[in-house]
Amino acid sequence: MNNNIVWHNAALSLAERQARNGHKPCLLWYTGLSGSGKSTIANAVDRMLFDLGCHTYLLDGDNVRHGLNRDLGFDDASRVENIRRITEVSRLMLDAGLIVGTAFISPFISDRAQAKALAGDAFIEVFVDTPLAVCEQRDPKGLYKKARAGEIAHFTGISSPYQAPAAPDIHLKTAELSIEQAARQVVAFLQQQLIIPR
Ligand code: ADX
Repeated sequence: MNNNIVWHNAALSLAERQARNGHKPCLLWYTGLSGSGKSTIANAVDRMLFDLGCHTYLLDGDNVRHGLNRDLGFDDASRVENIRRITEVSRLMLDAGLIVGTAFISPFISDRAQAKALAGDAFIEVFVDTPLAVCEQRDPKGLYKKARAGEIAHFTGISSPYQAPAAPDIHLKTAELSIEQAARQVVAFLQQQLIIPR
């Protein structure tokens, strides 16, 4: 930590940005197993919000791991650092007034709690609840097969834990919902909470 740095207050306030945007900022924190549908649902929500005139941005697991977090692996410490950086980037985007989506497995309760602590009231936990058996059967990237064969270490759900949220703000039971229905459930929540206009 450098002690010779000073926090500057911005000339533009969040309230001003909010007034121009016509909605509040928030952080839609999607969590669920690999192959659960986080990215697909988050992208569908992003499209709906964009079409409603909202200002949004989506941080997606695999994409962020190609750039910002390319130096990180999947051991516990790397996952913690992965989520820490994503949380900090999300905070900057919240400060810019955006509706931010993050689609990462984020398997640990403590990391999600940390994101919540930093993002405050803006944090909305979205549990993409797809059973392991379904994710494994879909196996869109062939990774479960490799993990079962012992070719990938620390694979979530196989050789690394997934700690499901006990009380998510939004619970998407994907077995009972189409992608469009799941996305609508998220958008309806934002309307109910008066984050976006009804
Ligand atoms: S997280 O656990 O740190 O939140 P993140 O969402 O960024 O994970 O990345 C998960 C994606 O990385 C998976 O969807 C999968 O494509 C890929 N991946 C590669 N190795 C692993 C692994 N050991 N465990 C889980 N996902 C992995």
